[in-house]
Amino acid sequence: MKFPAYRPRRLRSSEVMRRMVRETSLAPDDLILPLFVTFGKGVRKEIKSMPGHYQLSVDNMRKEAVQVKSLGIPAVILFGIPERKDGTGKSAFDPKGPVQEAIKAVKDGVPELLVITDVCMCEYTSHGHCGVIKDKDVDNDRTLELLSKEALSHAKAGADIVAPSDMMDGRVRAIRETLDENGFEKVPIMSYAAKYASAFYGPFREAAESTPQFGDRQSYQMDPANTDEAMREVALDIEEGADMVMVKPALPYLDIIRRIKTEFGYPTAAYSVSGEFSMIKAAAEKGWLDGERAMMESLVSIKRAGADMILTYFAKEAAEILRKT
Ligand code: PBG
Repeated sequence: MKFPAYRPRRLRSSEVMRRMVRETSLAPDDLILPLFVTFGKGVRKEIKSMPGHYQLSVDNMRKEAVQVKSLGIPAVILFGIPERKDGTGKSAFDPKGPVQEAIKAVKDGVPELLVITDVCMCEYTSHGHCGVIKDKDVDNDRTLELLSKEALSHAKAGADIVAPSDMMDGRVRAIRETLDENGFEKVPIMSYAAKYASAFYGPFREAAESTPQFGDRQSYQMDPANTDEAMREVALDIEEGADMVMVKPALPYLDIIRRIKTEFGYPTAAYSVSGEFSMIKAAAEKGWLDGERAMMESLVSIKRAGADMILTYFAKEAAEILRKT
């Protein structure tokens, strides 16, 4: 059928008509909120580059969890800011560390809210790299031991899902083995399988205080120009035991999300990172675009590309809007 018999505009004539033929829908169930947990008491420290986000101490984390749950968001992902950092990031597996304590507080206060933990060394090392350094580079195989210990300590504290984000080779297998040997065979791994060396992590590094003190992360995170390599990374992680895979960032990598979803058919998460959030916030503050519409359009595009879950700093704002409509 061709024009004039076929007129696509007929199905765009009213909101209810558009809703009826809409192909992609977004719900609070699709969203995961990242949270930053720090040491101390009564802390609620604003993150300047990420309006509306704070470093929270454990006591405040519990209140936050209650609110998140009430908005219908199923899960949070925790990042830790430890009191002490050293060359090997020992505080990552301190049973009394901020993340470990926050897991307990959230699971105790709001048991139905899923707690995912980011498993990485960069927040805990004095040099800010995602592992142990040898000859100015991250030593892959020694780092695997540390990541396994970190994941295990999160599982012991009660984490529902662990999410390694370091991009070391073999880390999913190492973590899976450690969890299984210690009776945590039921804890799933959400692997940051295709994580790119991106400029869009800028605001996060302020939030998590994890900027590398020398060099950059290009020897472990992926080259933004590659897509076949992302398929190999995902295939490896699935073989090693990943239950869910993730693409990060989201908006500049929608093609990667689509290809992974189509080729593997695994539960696929997309991490809409700090820079994606802050760009929209900054432009909206300047009055250069409608922040709310830009937020919803970005989220629906990530879902349309094939993501089953979206990690986003907009989770609360978006859930509030979605619950009203
Ligand atoms: C830790 C980690 C990072 C992010 C998530 N986990 C930072 C990085 O790799 O430098 C970025 C998240 C964001 O920008 O929102 N490795």
